[in-house]
Amino acid sequence: MTAGRTTSSASQHWCTPPKYVHAIRRFFRGRIDLDPCANKHSIVEAEVEYRLPRQDGLRLEWNFRRIFVNPPYGADRARKTTIKHWLHRCHQAHVEHGAQVLALVPVATNTAHWKHYVWGAASSICFLYDTRLKFLVDGKDGGKGAPMSCAMIYWGERVEEFDRVFSEFGAVLDVRSLLGREFGGQAKKSEQPALSVEGKPAVDVPLKRIAGRGR
Ligand SMILES: C[S@@+](CC[C@H](N)C(=O)[O-])C[C@H]1O[C@@H](n2cnc3c(N)ncnc32)[C@H](O)[C@@H]1O
Repeated sequence: MTAGRTTSSASQHWCTPPKYVHAIRRFFRGRIDLDPCANKHSIVEAEVEYRLPRQDGLRLEWNFRRIFVNPPYGADRARKTTIKHWLHRCHQAHVEHGAQVLALVPVATNTAHWKHYVWGAASSICFLYDTRLKFLVDGKDGGKGAPMSCAMIYWGERVEEFDRVFSEFGAVLDVRSLLGREFGGQAKKSEQPALSVEGKPAVDVPLKRIAGRGR
């Protein structure tokens, strides 16, 4: 796997490890409102989780204040989506709803998704120091860890707080000076990358907690 361009199917389910879940909670003052791509092994435990197969996080509402996203890094062939669709929703949630959004993604600075939805769109980036980031696999320590470099990206206004919380994990860059600038031409930041109408649609259910979270 390199920079989120190609990926093994197993890595699609790698869960955020405790050290980052704790930091994200600290940054969000104890509460994560939405995890739009959760799974049963995740320890993120957001107030609202979208989980396949019933809830397609790319088709449901992102009108929440504090959102954390660790998206599938590879392409979803059935739904014809990629990480680009997730980063678009991150940026869009901030612009349209004033959401504070954190995303844990591979560093891929020359890809279309970084050019359109990170550069000129996000406020701050923490380039994580982990030589091999140890995601959780099926809820457990996944061994030697991921080979690619990862970053925590932030769309929001609390850049000083982001720096305070995340600088212990990597080099934090305030990229607000790029806001509003276009990088890489072509698609505009506001353009929704097309979502397939051929892929099996998920069932949209009313926004509510997944049973069993109990918070
Ligand atoms: C990298 S894992 C992250 C899990 C969890 N958010 C965490 O950080 O611990 C990405 C998860 O997204 C889920 N997923 C993929 N496509 C999705 C979609 N369209 N809607 C909701 N969840 C999706 C997969 O089931 C996978 O387990």
